[in-house]
Amino acid sequence: MTILGSTGSIGQSTADLLLRNPDGFEVEALTAYRNPQRLAEQARALRARFAAIADSDHYPALKEALAGTGIEAACGTEALIEAALRPAELVMAGIVGAAGLAPTLAAIRRGAIVAFANKEVLVCAGGLVMQEVTRCGATLLPVDSEHNAIWQCFDLDRADTIERIILTASGGPFRERAFEEMRAVTPQQAVAHPNWSMGAKISVDSATMMNKGLELIEAHHLFRLPPERVDIVVHPQSIVHGAVVYRDGSVLAQLGSPDMRTPIAYALAWPGRIETPAKRLDLAAIGRLTFEPPDEHRFPALRVAREALIRGGGCPTVLNAANETAVHAFLEGRIGFLDIVDTVERTLGAIPEGELESLDDVYNFDRTAREIAARFSTLRNSKPPTATADLS
Ligand SMILES: NC(=O)c1ccc[n+]([C@@H]2O[C@H](COP(=O)([O-])OP(=O)(O)OC[C@H]3O[C@@H](n4cnc5c(N)ncnc54)[C@H](OP(=O)(O)O)[C@@H]3O)[C@@H](O)[C@H]2O)c1
Repeated sequence: MTILGSTGSIGQSTADLLLRNPDGFEVEALTAYRNPQRLAEQARALRARFAAIADSDHYPALKEALAGTGIEAACGTEALIEAALRPAELVMAGIVGAAGLAPTLAAIRRGAIVAFANKEVLVCAGGLVMQEVTRCGATLLPVDSEHNAIWQCFDLDRADTIERIILTASGGPFRERAFEEMRAVTPQQAVAHPNWSMGAKISVDSATMMNKGLELIEAHHLFRLPPERVDIVVHPQSIVHGAVVYRDGSVLAQLGSPDMRTPIAYALAWPGRIETPAKRLDLAAIGRLTFEPPDEHRFPALRVAREALIRGGGCPTVLNAANETAVHAFLEGRIGFLDIVDTVERTLGAIPEGELESLDDVYNFDRTAREIAARFSTLRNSKPPTATADLS
């Protein structure tokens, strides 16, 4: 297999499972953005054949760290595409953001099985990506815990018997905060997720609940369901990850402790199963599972994402690009927490709607949205919180 984004949270969990199952997999290629040391360590440990780093400034360090190993090193966006094109049966799409679009599409276009974590790819270009999946005979295996749960319960041969699907949301670290109190939260507070350990960008998305909005769009494409048949329910314990409601009233749900190695393992071993060290559920010790509707007044991101999906065309692309830009600005301390979704909504309002007919359209909407969102991010009156950190 190949891991795109091997140095990230999803990539490291995947690598961990591969090291625990040394006879089950051979590793073709690994990629990173700007962490040559971790990439080289992984490439050695997993005996990869090829290691690609996107930021060429870090190529000399990668080459040096791999000297004498026989592992081929390369750099730049073309090298990421080469990693995706090399002959691995299974590709983990674990890059964060729309930066994963080109390499993930390269894997799809050669008909690979793609374990799919990189949700922004489906948000920014879902219709086109799904067309390519069908045209090229590729297979997408959902890795996002909610979508993986639904996949485990979804009778693909009898999709007509399915009424709706349910995505659960933890509610993030500020689930119980008043709206005004969230104005002052810092990046450190926003990335401290109560249940899951994840990369900085998805942690902030969970705190604003934009993550659930992105997942609504992802679910719409993966399961080919209209947004009104995708329910969102807040479930603070993160034990029930997703459910499928059948037309006879049966609801099938998947449960597990919040550890990404379980959904990743399901994708790696599909249609079989492999062992993972994930903590086993002790339902009696947990005692109580609670559910509540999302509060779209305090967390408007879900509404903004749903509206973008319904408006269609380039709107989801704009939503994603503006969100990536605003989250980045927040993590750098340039804007406040509440400015993130506000920036996304204002960017959506500033760009004329248009159809998404080609990848050029995707890149045009994406570029324009990033420019406009960056401009909104520098015109803030509200003072961002003082504590900042390099959380990328
Ligand atoms: N983490 C989770 O538990 C989780 C759960 C469900 C879904 N997801 C989704 O999985 C994806 C990855 O999330 P994550 O939490 O693993 O993110 P992460 O920890 O930030 O890791 C991101 C990976 O992508 C690489 N990368 C970042 N920017 C890049 C660029 N411009 N070009 C090429 N590579 C780049 C990073 O390389 P460097 O390390 O060198 O920067 C790293 O390998 C996201 O789409 C996220 O929404 C994550």
